[in-house]
Amino acid sequence: MGIESLTIEVVQPSSIRSIRGRTGDGKMAETFGCDVVWSDGSQMRAFLKCFPACRKLGVINEITGYLMAKSCSLPVPDKAGVVKLSDEIIASLEIKDCTNIVEYAFLVSESPGSSPNSLYPNLNDAAKANLARRVLKRWPALCPLIAFDDWAANPDRNLGNFLINGSGDVYVIDHSNMPSGVSWSASDLVVDGKYRNCLVDILTFDGAIPFEKAFVVKAAEGHVDAYDEAKEELQFWWDAFLGGDPLRYAAIDVFIRERAQKGKDRISQNLLQMPV
Ligand SMILES: Nc1ncnc2c1ncn2[C@@H]1O[C@H](COP(=O)(O)OP(=O)(O)OP(=O)(O)O)[C@@H](O)[C@H]1O
Ligand SMILES: [Mg+2]
Repeated sequence: MGIESLTIEVVQPSSIRSIRGRTGDGKMAETFGCDVVWSDGSQMRAFLKCFPACRKLGVINEITGYLMAKSCSLPVPDKAGVVKLSDEIIASLEIKDCTNIVEYAFLVSESPGSSPNSLYPNLNDAAKANLARRVLKRWPALCPLIAFDDWAANPDRNLGNFLINGSGDVYVIDHSNMPSGVSWSASDLVVDGKYRNCLVDILTFDGAIPFEKAFVVKAAEGHVDAYDEAKEELQFWWDAFLGGDPLRYAAIDVFIRERAQKGKDRISQNLLQMPV
């Protein structure tokens, strides 16, 4: 696959401008606001996510999630990229232990809106979930997002990992903790495994099921085509980041492909087990 046809851009360090402070919401990564000049010449506000060595899979997890979500037509940020951090950038981040930061970082352009966590910082989780649910229920891509998180075994669609704008549109961010968790190993990726779906937990926190199960199953039927659309680039990046780790590479390759094929059956079964 030619580098110019990639969805995930390879960004030069010199294209990252005016790094701002660390964002408050995140825990796993060091996330910094910045401006990025993308390959089409556009300059946009963006977020730079740097990962410590103990969570070094964060970058490939983000890439995998971004490509899969985009191929499901979910509203991910317009642009995404990877950058090899320069000494100059690392120095400007003012991270306490910068020897610990992995050399490649993930970049995404800013999406509109704010996460429920930052919209309602003083509310407890149930109250936040309740307000978020009112918006999510009316959002046309809710069932596709539930199905996507199931496909990708993303346990982390918490109240900081989607954004809501004033018109009730929702934007999807942060795939660093999938599949299954940030530091997954081959044995964590069980094709028929059942993984926590945080979005379903948020939606059903009081026992109600405010979505149509059949629409989630329907969305899962689209994953075979979504996989076909994304696979070439997925394999390009898996090779780049996991080429030296054949066990993990083989595991994620089989896991993502086969879960796409079996999504309809798996989701029908899992959803049937939910109390109505
Ligand atoms: N593309 C984006 N558009 C707007 N805001 C963003 C975007 N990416 C990140 N943010 C903001 O930065 C915060 C932290 O980013 P993110 O959730 O990706 O990382 P994190 O939470 O540190 O990672 P993790 O969930 O793996 O711990 C988000 O909650 C959000 O407020
Ligand atoms: Mg997050």
